[in-house]
Amino acid sequence: MEDQKKNNLNSDKKINELEKSIVLHRKLYYSGNPQITDEAYDSLEEQLRAIAPNHPLFEQVGSEEVLKESSFSKVPHEPKMLSLNKVYTLEEYLNWLPKEAKEGVVTPKVDGFAVKLAYQKQGSVYVLETGATRGNGSVGEDVTENIKQVHDIPHEIEASALSEAPESFQVRGECYMKKSRFAVLSKEEDSVESCRNVAPGSIRNKDPRVTKQRGLNFFAYNILGLNTETMTDNFHLLASIGFVPVEHQTIHLQDKPEEIFKQWDTRRTEEVDDYYIDGIVFMVNDLSLFNALGTTAHHPRGAIAWKFKSEETETTLREVQWSVSRTGLINPVGIYDKVFIEGANLTNATLHNISQVKELGLGIGDRIVVARQGGVIPKIIRVKESKGSPIVPPSTCPACSWETTVKNEAGIETLHCMNSNCPAVTKAKLLHFIRMMEIEDIADSMISKLFDAGLILEPADIYKVTVDDIESFFKSGKKIAEKLINNINAARKRSLHQLLNALGIPTLGQKLSEDLANHFKNLDALLNTAEEELVAIEGIAQETAQKIIVGLQDRKTIIDNLLNEIEIVSLIQDTNRKDGPLQEKTFLITGTLSKPRKEIEAFIKEHGGSIKSSVSKNLDYLICGSDPGSKVQKAEKLGVPVITEEELVEMFD
Ligand code: IVH
Repeated sequence: MEDQKKNNLNSDKKINELEKSIVLHRKLYYSGNPQITDEAYDSLEEQLRAIAPNHPLFEQVGSEEVLKESSFSKVPHEPKMLSLNKVYTLEEYLNWLPKEAKEGVVTPKVDGFAVKLAYQKQGSVYVLETGATRGNGSVGEDVTENIKQVHDIPHEIEASALSEAPESFQVRGECYMKKSRFAVLSKEEDSVESCRNVAPGSIRNKDPRVTKQRGLNFFAYNILGLNTETMTDNFHLLASIGFVPVEHQTIHLQDKPEEIFKQWDTRRTEEVDDYYIDGIVFMVNDLSLFNALGTTAHHPRGAIAWKFKSEETETTLREVQWSVSRTGLINPVGIYDKVFIEGANLTNATLHNISQVKELGLGIGDRIVVARQGGVIPKIIRVKESKGSPIVPPSTCPACSWETTVKNEAGIETLHCMNSNCPAVTKAKLLHFIRMMEIEDIADSMISKLFDAGLILEPADIYKVTVDDIESFFKSGKKIAEKLINNINAARKRSLHQLLNALGIPTLGQKLSEDLANHFKNLDALLNTAEEELVAIEGIAQETAQKIIVGLQDRKTIIDNLLNEIEIVSLIQDTNRKDGPLQEKTFLITGTLSKPRKEIEAFIKEHGGSIKSSVSKNLDYLICGSDPGSKVQKAEKLGVPVITEEELVEMFD
């Protein structure tokens, strides 16, 4: 009897703990700040399900907490915005598969943020009236102004595009950030940590200009309020009225679903697509059957998400290094014994902040489980066996010994060095400058060494480095040293927007630098501008304007010194330019061409084309020079045309 009581108490305690963790992690996830992987989260739910299968948390969609604390006005959802039930194995899939279901549609489960778009008829057009988050499924947040900043979301749709004329209709889908966009953004904004988490934070933002600057895209996966018979009809309809439907294949649900799953898993690990997915969605195609199957409080029965399980490996945590970024934020990085997962050797993973270290309960010497999040980014998932003592954030900056500051924002603790002369901050700023000014082949370690030796202290000094310096410091041989100096010299002519972006002024990233360069045309005009003039430019808020002005003032000497070394040239600054024979075509270069890559890329842009950062099926042409990389095989596999430099030139005939 006593034992029974004890057991009950223990299980109540466990339920309570799990409930707390689940509520917290839902809140963090839906506010765009997840601290654990999807699988770690799912495992919390599984543990709770095992002891309390009817817990009310399983009925909830989204996060009540986020909605409660939200200051956006509320929008009801009719019908409800449900979630998806998920499976991890073929057996679980077959358990789900409704007997009557034959034809299905499979789509990638895009790792983004669900939104609803409501269109209302106004004369001859349908107008985007409301854009809303999912919230708790019944009520979401009104984020219309932010939604309007997302690419691929039409603000108006011609009524004539539809074959019927309802008063209103809804489109639902996923806002997400392209990997290629994230690659650019993460260099500009230290606050964006992961491609997959950036969408919610960008949509649930108080300032639509921030949403715009982030550059999100949208995949549509459903349309409601029109007379269609199948999911496939819906996708075609969505495409015909100007949306980008999520990729869809019509399949037989009973017919080798595991092969379809594997194909997508391969596609994910080979990074074929420019977006992250965390599984695939199987849906009954016939809408009358889909509707007849009905829903639970949480999900429709006619659809299932088959989620990828990432390969997990055990290793030992050896050290946590505290790495200082150019904003002074100090990030913990876990260093562990080398492991090989999903095609890559891994030795470290960022832990992002103090809260994550605490949450995982990490200690040096612990056996830990490591995976590649989304099949790509290394991540410490959990502690398998605790051996070491807990990790304590350093009380002084590892680079300059200034006392560190702990900040706590929305329950997330971060560590900072507030010393504006911290050598690590200065080094990180120099590295940012080198990247943004596209000085090629200069290793981070080289800059670090030259900085430590006192040869490079500010950007202008980079241009004063000599062949002798490099030869003597790096024992590199004359040829290599000369090549590096050539690269540095090649970066003496850069456009205004590149320079602005390279200065590392908070909020002044690529897009804003381009806007400013287009507006002011020359640096003097920008340096002499007033806050009011900046605010008058579309997309610049007061706070941003202030940061730009202060940032430029603070860097006055750095800029003056730089202008003794570099020349600001006008390249193609009008990034919206779309005319020319390469109009709207996308290109990527692999191998060596007859001219420097940057020159060819500038040439392409000048004639209306744009440059992609990776091979995907959305790429129009891969330009192949001598000694090409693996991109060629990838392009061939995806059916992307591989052309030579001559063939590029022939496009102008
Ligand atoms: S179908 C009842 N298709 O995943 C919802 N959802 O975890 C039917 N998602 O709420 C949605 N990609 O936000 C569908 N290709 C896709 C999706 C997708 C991502 C999201 C959606 C849903 C969540 C469930």
